[in-house]
Amino acid sequence: MTNFVFSIPTTAYFGKGQIKVLGETIKSHGGSKVLLAYGGGSIKQNGIYEETVEQLDQAGLGYVELSDIQPNPRVESVEEGIELYRKNGCDFILAVGGGSTLDACKAIAAGVKYAGPVNDLFVDESGISSKISAAAPLATILTMAGTGSELDMGAVITVGEDHKKKVLLHPLVNPRFSILDPEYTYTVPEHHSMAGVADILCHLMEQYFTPETGADVQDRMNEGVMKAVLDNAPKLLDNPRDYNARANIMWASSMALAGFQFLLGKPGFAFPLHGMGHELSSKYDMTHGVTLALLTPAWMRHTMQTAPHHLPVFARFARNVMEIREQDDLKAAEAGIKALEAFYASIKMPANLREAGVKQADLEAMAEKAVENGKLGILSLLGKDEVLQIMRAAF
Ligand code: NZQ
Ligand code: ZN
Repeated sequence: MTNFVFSIPTTAYFGKGQIKVLGETIKSHGGSKVLLAYGGGSIKQNGIYEETVEQLDQAGLGYVELSDIQPNPRVESVEEGIELYRKNGCDFILAVGGGSTLDACKAIAAGVKYAGPVNDLFVDESGISSKISAAAPLATILTMAGTGSELDMGAVITVGEDHKKKVLLHPLVNPRFSILDPEYTYTVPEHHSMAGVADILCHLMEQYFTPETGADVQDRMNEGVMKAVLDNAPKLLDNPRDYNARANIMWASSMALAGFQFLLGKPGFAFPLHGMGHELSSKYDMTHGVTLALLTPAWMRHTMQTAPHHLPVFARFARNVMEIREQDDLKAAEAGIKALEAFYASIKMPANLREAGVKQADLEAMAEKAVENGKLGILSLLGKDEVLQIMRAAF
């Protein structure tokens, strides 16, 4: 296991009614005038907006609103938020929504403290957003489980004519605190609830399918969270108001990326499935979690074939997570992938890229864009040809 530093700078207020801490906790972080940001309006339909505003009013906090942040949020929303924050003399940002709203607010938090364009704030050759040296204080009220943005230091913003998804990564944009009330996720439509499940599972897998470094604690904890996700997703499908199922999925979302804890002691920060999946969202505005479910089985088979020395990690996943009882590693790993495909089908993910509306003629351009900043992956390196093979296999 390699050396590491572990820090989760975000306080999580988890459970029913935790919104009651909102006003005083914002004040304890020095907030008096809040930029209140949200998405396309779901919070106005399910009552979360009223509860939030009531708390701000009770605490005597002023606020200005940034609304209509779209899924796969665009840099224009970030720029609008920066302008609103500055023009109105805000000193705190409150994001109420799913990953898209949270991510836009992280970029706003860094952007209001930076004189140049937002485009400078994305990850550079150093591996993080090295231009960020300060950020406004940010809190989140999560309304949809999946991305882990509520407890992590990342954000993904869509930029430019070609809708490139760019990553911002810096510890200073970790929220100061996040309010995680599972009841707030009752109204998430089934499609987005299940896409969230696929996203959580993929975050866990991206940290699990890494070169063997003897990080047993990280991998065993990771296996446990993966199993909890597999167990609770069907309960959510059966009953969207199952509190414990919502609570487990929400906490799994937060734990999956908190401090990148399951990657500690391991080399690199690869996330190849995300690198490929973002191109599907760029091209088709496809829901993030769906892109990952579509590509994962094909990527697993590709990696087992091209880097067979890593087969044991796929066999271990099959046995410890998918409960495959098979002695032979290759057979076990393949059975694990089949079980994963069956799980994706059970949570109503499309079976392949074709079914999801992807055009075969677009695959090559997407493969090229996926690697424009360098090859992807760590178990095996994926250049354009390899990404294209995976996309064709997923088609
Ligand atoms: O916009 P509103 O009206 O709020 O509706 C949203 C949106 O249409 C709706 N929704 C959210 N909470 C709801 C609700 N509808 C009813 N009731 C509720 N309680 O759900 C839809 C999807 O919301 P969105 O925020 O886009 O979903 P998600 O949380 O999956 O976020 C996706 C974004 O996060 C990025 C993705 O790339 C994508 O842009 N990611 C961020 C990460 C991070 N910060 O660490 C990591 C992830 O890998 C991911 O890349
Ligand atoms: Zn993700």
